[in-house]
Amino acid sequence: MEFLSDDLHNYIAGRTTEAPSYLDELERETWVKVLMPRMLSGHVQGQILKMFSSMMQPTFILEVGTYTGYASHFLVEGLKPDGEFHAVEINEELETIIKKYWAKHEKANQMHLHIGPATEILESLQRPWDLVFLDADKINLIHYYEQLLPQLRTGGIMLIDNILWSGKVVGGPHSNDKDTKAIQALNDHVTKDDRVEQVILSVRDGIMMVRKL
Ligand SMILES: C[S@@+](CC[C@H](N)C(=O)[O-])C[C@H]1O[C@@H](n2cnc3c(N)ncnc32)[C@H](O)[C@@H]1O
Repeated sequence: MEFLSDDLHNYIAGRTTEAPSYLDELERETWVKVLMPRMLSGHVQGQILKMFSSMMQPTFILEVGTYTGYASHFLVEGLKPDGEFHAVEINEELETIIKKYWAKHEKANQMHLHIGPATEILESLQRPWDLVFLDADKINLIHYYEQLLPQLRTGGIMLIDNILWSGKVVGGPHSNDKDTKAIQALNDHVTKDDRVEQVILSVRDGIMMVRKL
């Protein structure tokens, strides 16, 4: 389900700062060569991630679920010169395309890719995260949230993608699947969590913005 008409979507996209042209190339290559290209964030959501990163000037940034690495280019924009960006991706076949385009970013030497299941990698990858973008499998959402919240610094931001799940979170005939239930559980879990404050941004498929108190 699309939340916006095509006209409104095009209006917004046409009035949002464009992505660098090499990222249009990455988008095209993703659509031609990789399964499920709709997973790529797109330049409007990318620009939002860039705004957060630029405002926060983080030292430690984490992306869980990197796909072809499109969102990484925006997340890393505000990274401090001595900072680290880490991305976790389970699909080893994506490594070549991720690295091919990361190499074009001026902060490439601060960008670290970890291939493998996030539950395992996050065990060994402990940092005082300033900014986390959670965008992997939905079944483990609460697990990732609980694993990462203690590491998030006070005032740090966790952005959790797809939390409206094409509108299925509010019910309907197609909302009985495991992913929908996992996302509903996560949204309710965060809502009851007095360690954080949060707001749902109705951007694209919904982003839960969580700030650690
Ligand atoms: C929605 S895509 C990420 C899109 C990317 N963040 C972007 O905005 O362009 C989700 C990614 O999570 C990865 N993924 C799924 N389960 C995972 C797991 N258990 N550990 C690590 N990555 C996982 C998938 O392979 C997929 O590439």
